[in-house]
Amino acid sequence: MKKIGLLGCGAIGTQIALAVDSGKIPATLTHVYDQSKEASELLVSKLKHKPEIVKNSHLLSSNPVDLVVEAASQDAVKDVALSVIQNRKDLMIMSVGALLDESVFEVLSDACKDFKKTIYLPSGAIAGLDALKSVQGELDSVILTTTKHPRSLKGAKFFETADIDIEKINEKTTIFEGTSKEAVSLFPKNINVAALLSLAGLGSEKTKVRIVADPNTDKNTHEIHAEGKFGKMSFKIENVPDSTNPKTSRLAILSVIERLRAICSDDIQIGT
Ligand SMILES: NC(=O)c1ccc[n+]([C@@H]2O[C@H](COP(=O)([O-])OP(=O)(O)OC[C@H]3O[C@@H](n4cnc5c(N)ncnc54)[C@H](O)[C@@H]3O)[C@@H](O)[C@H]2O)c1
Repeated sequence: MKKIGLLGCGAIGTQIALAVDSGKIPATLTHVYDQSKEASELLVSKLKHKPEIVKNSHLLSSNPVDLVVEAASQDAVKDVALSVIQNRKDLMIMSVGALLDESVFEVLSDACKDFKKTIYLPSGAIAGLDALKSVQGELDSVILTTTKHPRSLKGAKFFETADIDIEKINEKTTIFEGTSKEAVSLFPKNINVAALLSLAGLGSEKTKVRIVADPNTDKNTHEIHAEGKFGKMSFKIENVPDSTNPKTSRLAILSVIERLRAICSDDIQIGT
């Protein structure tokens, strides 16, 4: 069975750990780390098979794990991703926005080739990435419209400079329109979807993003429209937010669990 090291013991990390613990993902969770000792201890207290809590994030990959799963933050990716690959471990990244920094992407991509290791980016909170990747060479436009309740957007860097008070939004309001690159830096905890679409499709300068705050919604909704020589495609995903972290969609958690299950299984693999 593959051995997994987990970086980040919040909403996503906890559900991954529980899925390994219950046998849904056929693997062993051997080591965990979170910058909050409380979070890692709380997670371990919920598990039948207790992993070791390591003292810093770099110790995850210096232990004999096969795969490190990051479910922490963009900073965590920038801090440890390269050393995980250099330690000859595969890596799964949830904080995908970190890879829109081209220098980070290139360094990690080169390291994967040099050390013959793989970085996995699960589809997260959207559907359609498989199709988008297939038509990548024939795309003319990709537009993402993300609609969330204001409480799911609260705290984003965007509000430090924008002339918008998120508490006072009382009707459906488009608060941001721009490139995926801008969206990811202004809404780093909200818009991993924009980063994934950019990486699979037209890149972060050409992928357009609209963010809508809607006080009357209880879903995180992503609408994706792509056009090109291949034809057109549209996807709409209305996600239920996770009960412990409204910024994260339930589908993002189910997606990473399914990706891990597939990587850890000797089985028929469905889809691209
Ligand atoms: N790819 C996707 O579709 C997708 C979807 C949802 C969330 N995400 C991303 O996944 C990450 C985790 O999401 P979540 O809902 O579990 O968040 P969360 O806030 O519930 O949990 C994150 C945990 O990571 C810890 N952490 C943060 N930075 C750290 C660091 N540098 N080192 C060690 N621990 C650190 C925090 O203490 C916290 O316990 C976030 O970056 C989020 O933006 C990606």
